[in-house]
Amino acid sequence: MKIFLLWIISVLFSTLLLGQNKYTSPNKNIELVIQRQQKQIVYSIVYLGDTIMYPSELGFKAKKTYGATTQETIDFADSMVIVREKEKKINDQWQPILGEVKTIQNECNEITFELQSEKKGKPYLMNIIFRIFNDGVGFRYEFPKQTNLNRFVIEDEITTFQLKEDYTAWWQAGNFNTNEYPLHETKLSAINALNDCESNKLFTAQCLPWLIQTPLMLKSPKGIYVNIHEAALVHFPAMQLRRSPDSRKLSSDLVPDAMHNKAYLETPFATPWRTILISNKATDILASKMILNLNEPTKLKDVSFIKPVKYIGVWWEMFVGKGTWDYLGTQNSAQEAKPTGKHSANTTNVKKYIDFASKHGFDGILVEGWNVGWEDWFAKWKENVFDFVTPYPDFNVKELQAYAKSKNVYLIMHHETSGSVISYERHMDSAYQFMNENGYPAVKTGYVGPIIPRGENHDGQWMVDHYIRVAEKTAAKKIMLDVHEPVRPTGLHRTYPNWLACEAARGMEYNAWGDGNAIDHDLNLIFTRFIGGPMDYTPGIFKLKLDYFPNKKEIIHSTLARQLALYVVMYSPLQMAADLPENYEAKLDAFQFIKDVPTDWDDTKILEAEPGEYVTTARKGKNTNNWFIGSITDEKKRSTKITLDFLDANKNYEATIYADDKNTLVDVRPELYSITKKTVQKGDVLNLDLAGAGGVAVSIIEVKANKM
Ligand code: NOJ
Ligand code: CA
Repeated sequence: MKIFLLWIISVLFSTLLLGQNKYTSPNKNIELVIQRQQKQIVYSIVYLGDTIMYPSELGFKAKKTYGATTQETIDFADSMVIVREKEKKINDQWQPILGEVKTIQNECNEITFELQSEKKGKPYLMNIIFRIFNDGVGFRYEFPKQTNLNRFVIEDEITTFQLKEDYTAWWQAGNFNTNEYPLHETKLSAINALNDCESNKLFTAQCLPWLIQTPLMLKSPKGIYVNIHEAALVHFPAMQLRRSPDSRKLSSDLVPDAMHNKAYLETPFATPWRTILISNKATDILASKMILNLNEPTKLKDVSFIKPVKYIGVWWEMFVGKGTWDYLGTQNSAQEAKPTGKHSANTTNVKKYIDFASKHGFDGILVEGWNVGWEDWFAKWKENVFDFVTPYPDFNVKELQAYAKSKNVYLIMHHETSGSVISYERHMDSAYQFMNENGYPAVKTGYVGPIIPRGENHDGQWMVDHYIRVAEKTAAKKIMLDVHEPVRPTGLHRTYPNWLACEAARGMEYNAWGDGNAIDHDLNLIFTRFIGGPMDYTPGIFKLKLDYFPNKKEIIHSTLARQLALYVVMYSPLQMAADLPENYEAKLDAFQFIKDVPTDWDDTKILEAEPGEYVTTARKGKNTNNWFIGSITDEKKRSTKITLDFLDANKNYEATIYADDKNTLVDVRPELYSITKKTVQKGDVLNLDLAGAGGVAVSIIEVKANKM
């Protein structure tokens, strides 16, 4: 009785209290307000006195079973009351295995709200946990173990982001199956995702004008930068955002399965975090570690096999039409033909790449098209295409492994699943065993085309589970992982550090076809896609006019110096030098930057940034005193002064500046560059000039004093 009375009092107390409750970030810049409006618990966010998020909804609609008969809907949005709240200060540090900085500070204020439904009889329970950092807010929902609920199905997420004003948005069309769309800059009110979405004929069924993806970069009319995304996407579908046609409200729209259900859950369960980065400085958004902090620490005991990777590949030559993935060279199993001799992954050709990698200090060589199946791979929606262990007759696995080993480099495995995930699942164990037996320490996977099981989506719960299964299975086999065409990343590389990078966006490959990527595409990626984690963008193209054949007319809308800068402005512990060896041999002085630049760092400074315009980043190489600067601009040329105040005092450095030449002109003379060297010290100023669509890369190498 006493306990019951106490419970009643605490319920009343909390509900009364929740007329309005305020919580702040450790530095007090961000304020979270929780209120009850009508029958809904809503949250608002105020940043330095400006309301960023107006009262926005929280919760879910769920049902108890997926069957047709005993449906009982559960309303985790309306009529929930807060019965208890707990506050906690978090302030600790951790060290990423590979990363942009050596140590990450995790400082925030956490508030857990325990909610109960007002249902008669046994109520349903749900907690909402907010973490307020100095650079943003994350929140997740938790369904605790409860007597009245075990298994249930999520029908819809009710979470909204009520912005009110017409922010400038950097956005990508929504889709359940691809993140490989162009990025656009428009006002929120002008978003129309239909054209892009419909351009991808494979997946048109899910196109809506107002459906977009995260990370969504926003800038308020007053100049406050906001980025909406999610962290720790585990056993849950990805969140897309639905813009309401009449207001500035964004709503969560979860990727469904073929049954139109969103997620199949079992208590206890915690959802991914919804993340809102906020600052009046765009540099803070890029430097934020909030999403990583919201992910779980890794449970991996042995991480010794996880190393940064700089690689080349038997890859771009297929994109520019010099070679084929399949052995016959026809890309069609139905066509009888003798091999055309264009198959790139042949032993002799791969040996040339091995020689080049070894000579120039690369770690690995990716070889695509090594295995049987490519005749049948693309968009055929066919179930058994690859077995991941059978090489083509002209690819000698053992001979190449021995050769690579003798040259102190390794081959990177390629597993294109062509969307047939069910057959990949069947072959995973033997495929990873094959890698172990043949000395492959890393794999690039791929999910081109619609998924099998048919009806599942790349970004739905079933596939999210699959990607994690692959991360776990590869980790168990001490294999590093690079995933193409997965759901976009949410910081899970903290938890699964062998999962080095993903593609999950429109990469360099699009420049080999048609109009290619827009000038500011790579720049826009940094403010959107990269907020979730590293990308295997495959930079470093030196031959920017792809006139390999008379009818090949593509031109990459970038200067050569910009290609170098991408290695610094785009963080990834796995980076490719994507161009053909002969194109690097022709410009060895510029290639030196790609050879020197690390992919793992002790420190990072985002020196200047403005979405849609420019970004300049400086990074300090792991276990060295060497710094590397990269800067890129939009279509406008740009001059900038960088003060080297981050260098150590009393040390001498040699700076090598790889810049656009004064005659460099995108699409016309993009390959002109200049290289200058100078001795620099802490506090010196570098004057850097960038052509339109250009960039600049600087290596600043410590000059060790001669030992007398
Ligand atoms: C798409 C990937 O993004 C690309 O890197 C790969 O070469 C092809 N699929 C073939 O797997
Ligand atoms: Ca791709």
